[in-house]
Amino acid sequence: MTALDTAARASLVRERLGGAQRVVVLTGAGISAESGVPTFRGEGGLWREYRAVDLATPEAFGRNPQLVWEFYNWRREVLAPLAPNPGHEALVKMEQSVPHFTLITQNIDGLHEKAGSRNIIELHGNIWHVRCLGCGEVSEDRSVLAPMPRCAGCGQLLRPHVVWFGEALDPSVLRRAYEAVQKAGVMMVIGTSGTVEPAASMGILAKRKGAFLVEINLEPTPYTSFYDASIFGKSGEILPLISESL
Ligand code: OAD
Repeated sequence: MTALDTAARASLVRERLGGAQRVVVLTGAGISAESGVPTFRGEGGLWREYRAVDLATPEAFGRNPQLVWEFYNWRREVLAPLAPNPGHEALVKMEQSVPHFTLITQNIDGLHEKAGSRNIIELHGNIWHVRCLGCGEVSEDRSVLAPMPRCAGCGQLLRPHVVWFGEALDPSVLRRAYEAVQKAGVMMVIGTSGTVEPAASMGILAKRKGAFLVEINLEPTPYTSFYDASIFGKSGEILPLISESL
């Protein structure tokens, strides 16, 4: 894709955003890649090096909670010093420039919140939140956790408050996401490979309901042919182009 194509498509998307009442953005690991967060499936992706079934399923936690906590504590250590990049920042500006803005993310890294985005729906939970297996209490905890952390209230084992493979998404979180998707005038899908449901097909649903559908990714995805506009390149470079004069 030439720089001219990118600029022309960015300007088309900006125009659409300018006329939209309701904008929904769905992000995946790609938006955080330029902050130094490893993605899951591409080169250097987490699921190329580690087996998700050993580390990110309820069965794995049941078998060996200490191993799963080692993995999540390592991920927390990697993520703690990382900062939002210009892609996250451009979405903050976008939120301030359109009447109704919803940011749905599959990411658990908390970088959208750190950047200053407000109306965020975290489909897969948040790595900085823990949940008690006994009393169910969810709390934020950014400290270095013990190898087998326990609930301050009831003493039971804590788990990361993230969605693992084989687990259902929180129905209230999912309901909020679908409500926004179905009303979107413009929906942008950024930095996701489109392989994990239900997020993968949310863009198609928005389009069926009449949204102008935009994709930003390094490369084509299984859904590329459905998009009204696809812009290929780094989200940290493309999003600022779109939001600069919103
Ligand atoms: P993936 O790792 O599957 O896909 C990342 C996507 O981002 C790929 O399509 C890349 O081409 C694209 N990408 C990489 N760098 C980019 C950049 N700088 N700018 C734009 N695009 C870029 O990650 P997800 O689609 O987010 O689930 O994965 C979905 C879910 O699978 C995750 O939420 C996680 C994982 O298993 C759970 O943990 C439940």
